[in-house]
Amino acid sequence: MELLIKNGTLVTATATFQADVLIRDEKIARISPGLEPDSAQAINASGKLILPGGVDPHVHLDLPMFGTVSSDDHYTGHKAAAFGGTTTVMDFVVLEDKGFQYSVDIWMKKAEKAAIDYSFHMNLTQFNDKIAREIPSLMKMGIQTLKVFTAYNGRLRIDDGSIFKAMQIARDNGMLVMAHCENGDVIETLTEQALAAGHRTPEWHALTRPAWGAVESLLRVAGMASAADAPAYIVHMNVGGEVDMLKYARERGIKVMGETCPQYLFFTFDDLRKPDGAKWICSPPMRTKEDNARLWEGLSEGVLQTIGTDHCPFFFDGTQPIVYEGSEVAIPGKELGRDDFTKIPNGLPGIQDRMPVLWTTGVRAGKITANQFVAYMCTNPAKIFGLYPRKGALLEGSDADIVIWDPEKKVKYGVAMSRQRTDYNLYEGWELTGYPEKVFLRGRLIVDGEEWKGKRGMGQFLRRGEGVVL
Ligand code: URP
Ligand code: ZN
Ligand code: ZN
Repeated sequence: MELLIKNGTLVTATATFQADVLIRDEKIARISPGLEPDSAQAINASGKLILPGGVDPHVHLDLPMFGTVSSDDHYTGHKAAAFGGTTTVMDFVVLEDKGFQYSVDIWMKKAEKAAIDYSFHMNLTQFNDKIAREIPSLMKMGIQTLKVFTAYNGRLRIDDGSIFKAMQIARDNGMLVMAHCENGDVIETLTEQALAAGHRTPEWHALTRPAWGAVESLLRVAGMASAADAPAYIVHMNVGGEVDMLKYARERGIKVMGETCPQYLFFTFDDLRKPDGAKWICSPPMRTKEDNARLWEGLSEGVLQTIGTDHCPFFFDGTQPIVYEGSEVAIPGKELGRDDFTKIPNGLPGIQDRMPVLWTTGVRAGKITANQFVAYMCTNPAKIFGLYPRKGALLEGSDADIVIWDPEKKVKYGVAMSRQRTDYNLYEGWELTGYPEKVFLRGRLIVDGEEWKGKRGMGQFLRRGEGVVL
């Protein structure tokens, strides 16, 4: 089966040019101006942009948490991702006491319904000699990354010595440590004190998780990476000071890379004070306008490497069903913490929003170039996480994961338009210009305008090898 996308403008991480794209079977077979269809089915993409399918390096699907579960699973979340132009996602495996293989098997089972391609990171939330010995076995399972936490004491956090040892093991095995940076001890103390003082409202989630904790923790992780001579990747950067610390470390040759997420570019602590403030609860929390601005600068200047979503959606009111694919669905959500901010499930929707929202607010607004957009959304995550050039690229031989992007399409965005399985959208009512028109996964059309053409189970697990330090 051959498909020819004609007359489009290709946008890659480094160049923008006019060419036709021939897709044969699942791959990009040729890229050149003036290709003739012969036996191929032709699609006219005149006036449209051709982008590589998005690669979202940070999602949490079907994640049990706070006595409920994130409300998108490995089908619904994948479908929403596809409508936003993303064709590859990376989820985080919860580490069970029975070890890596057992834990990965659980996630493999959950992902049998996958609709786009996917791979896994391992949450390294326990550490001992046995676990240390077994870390290299993850590479054989196609998992190249370990996420560590400097917060969530007694639950997800491992101590700094263990993080440092994990980095040394990662270095010796071509792996990468990803770090969630906050100060767990300060958070636990402030939370205890806030509760004792009777504070229960959502804003206290942010007030008990200070920005400086994220800043010093990032520098601490960078320092450990330097001492271990290992690469590190900072997830969900949310504070301006983190951008400064990342820059400081990178200028000194430390192999540390950074990701931010759209929510940290727009929203602030004030959103948590609204009557529906729980919608904005995630960890790390929203910060200030100055932090939004510095993160944008970090993207414009190229201090940061990727934009992920940290998609971890919950219903705002999980007692009220929504209709999803013709059936009513209600999943307990933010209302669980109505009387106590510590019980509000942490996380936000965003898997579909990422590319359309950032196109308008980033590229059209002149804050980042279209090439930077592709670098942050597609190419850099593929390179860092060992998927390049199969993913994140418009190259002959790459998977034909392609988005035909209409740069002039205007939409009024929000929950009615979003396919994310939740009852709210952070970008409600935003006017966007630029939206995916057609999305192909390995040469198969999965999104055609508003029509879903993908299927449960068509997504493939991507075994990842060593990545590149950017
Ligand atoms: O609030 C969030 N981000 N939930 C997901 C877990 C994490 O730390 O990324
Ligand atoms: Zn995290
Ligand atoms: Zn996360």
